[in-house]
Amino acid sequence: MNGHVSHRLRCLITTGPTREHLDPVRFLSNGSSGRMGYALAEAAAARGWQVDVVSGPVVLPPPAGVSVHHVVSAEQMFGVCEPLFASCDLFFAVAAVADYRPKFFSQEKLRKSGGEMRLTLVPTIDILRTLAARKRPGQIVVGFAAETHDLEACARRKLEEKALDWIVANDVSRPGLGMNADDNAVLLLGRSGERLAFGPAPKSAVAGFILGNVAPASGTRGP
Ligand code: CTP
Repeated sequence: MNGHVSHRLRCLITTGPTREHLDPVRFLSNGSSGRMGYALAEAAAARGWQVDVVSGPVVLPPPAGVSVHHVVSAEQMFGVCEPLFASCDLFFAVAAVADYRPKFFSQEKLRKSGGEMRLTLVPTIDILRTLAARKRPGQIVVGFAAETHDLEACARRKLEEKALDWIVANDVSRPGLGMNADDNAVLLLGRSGERLAFGPAPKSAVAGFILGNVAPASGTRGP
């Protein structure tokens, strides 16, 4: 320890969907429930880690001993994550962040006109890619990939393109598994070529499997 005091591992987790509003009552979003991220948060807190969850709109109760930060849009999610990332040891990007948002936001509720309507979308910030590019030595960055086809190849490509340490791939074409489901089956790929399959199993068990493989065993680290 060189005379230094070790600190509790700090873990940052994004989870849930984001909502990208067109007007005060309408938005683009997806069906992510946030359950996988909350299960990871619970498992990390149970290991004694300090856990911050940055959550899009979900209906889940906050896990005990976890700080939950509620956000709506991708931009807000990034704004809350940015300072927390700088001091975290592990970052899990579990959120199903909307890849696009409407270019214009109307302060007033949009009225129908009867004819066709065109919506112009612009890309949102890629939170995971942006933060992974700022990784300090010793920080561990874990992404998630929900795929309907070519699971392993797509996930391996994202692992490399976004400069991640690990990626958790899950096949969302399998009924009852993955997005908005209780159970999950995952393939955990590491940047050094690791390839570990787990499940189908409850998301709490999947969370334990992921943490057990990506995290330092001790739960604390030197300064
Ligand atoms: N992610 C993010 N910010 C975004 C988009 C995605 O942080 N704006 C993160 C997710 O939390 C997840 C991973 O990136 O960890 C998913 O990668 P991505 O390439 O965005 O997956 P898809 O949305 O499936 O994209 P694609 O259309 O390329 O398959």
